[in-house]
Parts: sequence; C-alpha cells; structure tokens
Amino acid sequence: MPKKSISRFNASQFQDNILEWYAKNRRVLPWRVAGGGRTDPYKVWLSEIMLQQTTVPAVIPYFLKFLEKWPSVFDLANARDEDVMVAWAGLGYYARARNLLKCARVVAHDFGGVFPKTIDELIKLSGVGPYTAAAISTIAYGNAATVMDGNIERIVARIFAIETPLPQGKKDIREKADIVFADISELGKKSVQAFPQALMDIGAGVCTPKNPLCEFCPVQKYCQAYKLRTPESFPVRAIKKESLVRKGKVYWIQDKAGNVMVEKRSDNRMLGGMLGLPTTNWDKKGKDIDFQVKGLKKIGVIYHTFTHFKLELDIYGAILPDIKIMLDSFPQLTMLNLKESNINKAGFPTVFLKASKMALKYFSG
Ligand code: ADE
Repeated sequence: MPKKSISRFNASQFQDNILEWYAKNRRVLPWRVAGGGRTDPYKVWLSEIMLQQTTVPAVIPYFLKFLEKWPSVFDLANARDEDVMVAWAGLGYYARARNLLKCARVVAHDFGGVFPKTIDELIKLSGVGPYTAAAISTIAYGNAATVMDGNIERIVARIFAIETPLPQGKKDIREKADIVFADISELGKKSVQAFPQALMDIGAGVCTPKNPLCEFCPVQKYCQAYKLRTPESFPVRAIKKESLVRKGKVYWIQDKAGNVMVEKRSDNRMLGGMLGLPTTNWDKKGKDIDFQVKGLKKIGVIYHTFTHFKLELDIYGAILPDIKIMLDSFPQLTMLNLKESNINKAGFPTVFLKASKMALKYFSG
C-alpha cells in the first residue's frame, strides 16, 4: 500500500515537470556535460567539495583554475600541499582543501584513479559526507538516491509546508524528500543524473530564499507554501541566538623593502595549513604572540564573519629597518614580500587579505 501522502502527491508527474523545466532552463556549468557527453566523476567530486558551503558563482573561477592546474585526480594527488592551499585561498572552510588532497591521494593510489560508485564507499573518503556521497553517486554514475542540499531542502519544505522548525524539521523534510525522489530510477540514468541538479537550479534561480519567483515555478501547483501565500517562511527556522563576537589582534610588521612577517598556521587551528598574518589566539587554539616591537601602533580594525562567530580584529602595524632578527624569537614566522600588486596571489584567507589591504593602504598613503 502506498503511503497516504504519496497517493495525494504524484511524484512521477512532479519529476516530469521538473525535468521538462531543466531541459529548457538548466545552467551551463563547467562541471556539467554538454549534450550527450560522458560525466567525469573527478569534475563532479571536485565541484561538489567546492560547493559545500559556497555558492556556484564563487566556485566557478576556482573550479576552472584547479582543472587547469590539475586536470586529473592523479595530477591533484601529486600536487604539493602548499600549492593546493594557495589555489584554495579565498574559498573558505580550509579543512575542505586538506581533505580534498587526502581524498585525491586515496583515489589515485588505492582506487587506481577511479572514484567509487556507491554511497557506502564514497562516504568513507575524506571530506565526503552523506550529501556529497549521494550527489556524486547520482550525478557522476546515475545511481538513484535522495540528494539533499540546502536548495533541495528549501523546495521540499515549501512543497509540503513543513512546520517543524530546523534543525528538528530536517527529519520531516528528509521523509518528504524521499517521496519526491521516489522511483526516479524508472526514468532512466540521464534523468537520475539530471533530477537533483534540476532541483538545485530551481532552488538557486526560482525557489530562492527571499522573493521566490513562484510565477516561473514548474511545480507551483504542488506547492502548499504557495497556497498559503507564505513561501518565504519555509523552511521554518528556530529563532537565532545572537552570534558571539570575538576580538583579537593581527600584526603587520614589515621592512622598507616590503617584506612582511607571515605565519603558516598549524593544522589544528582555524584556517589551519594556510598562510596568514601573525595574530592573537582568537580561534582559542593557538598561542598568543607577544610582540615587543618599537613603534608598533594600532592602524585600523577589520570585521569578519565566520559560521559561529563574528571577529573584530585590531590591526597593529610597524615598519622596521630589519625584521630578519625577529625570526630567531619566532620560529613559526617567515618573511614574504607583499605589495599591492601581489597581495591577491599570496594565498591568504579572506580575513588576512582584508587586514593586509588595510595595512598596505595605511603605510602607502
Ligand atoms: N550545488 C551543489 N552541487 C551542485 C550542482 N551539481 N549543480 C548546481 N548547484 C550545485
């Protein structure tokens, strides 16, 4: 006996409506195949890792750069860690880059360069969680599975007007998503591959978090939230706590030739493995650096928002005749020549890029 909700919700017709929309409106994205071409699992995996917590427009230039530098999983597996971290700089959530490399090396060395096909095998790889495993298995290999990213979650929450607030509401959304994806394999491999991507495109361009374009939605007739005239209120969220503000200091210490003190952050810290300016331990994991530098003065403040807190960093700066001698007291530091013209290529995460640009402006102006 089908569930009551399935009998009211015609999954097969819903899927047809979504796929027809996708055939006409799909986004052209560099990891997608054009026409009848073959999907490359390496591209699917790379894009899915980059798209975790990052938008499509932000990912595209990074994806193209990675593909140019490392066209196959073997090339990436053989890359130097520092080169990958520099290429990733600015994309955020840097544990993803470390996991990306670990995963590439396992796939290259233990799997002969072939990404596994099943969710159970994929999920064992570094950086691959339940969503990413389902997305790779479905998009790269055409294995039917319920794929649930933020866009799909929002669509499902609206179609069924799910009232339970997140995060508890996730369970209800998941159950309804299984209904939306029911028997998709009967439509064939190409449709299995297309269906979640179609939902993602609808989520990104039609069923948007704010001001959804319901008049362009191919599945408006199924949508309970549309009937209620309150699509924006789904998914329902628990009232947010004010996010915490942490404070700290960041140091810009340079010589007259433009050499600046930089620190390779240890792997167990936030932004671990990345290059940054020396800072106090606002991530509560590092050691406070105590600089006794002549002429050090406050030159500005920057603000940066991480997932769980906001950061307010006072920038302290100084120009000294010789900074090499400081390396004896602070072995974790090195010197890097940083100028306006090369600052974007230094491989800094955004928070340090902001501080560096402010310091450069201060000392050049
Ligand atoms: N977001 C995550 N994966 C995606 C994909 N394959 N296409 C579009 N948006 C996505």
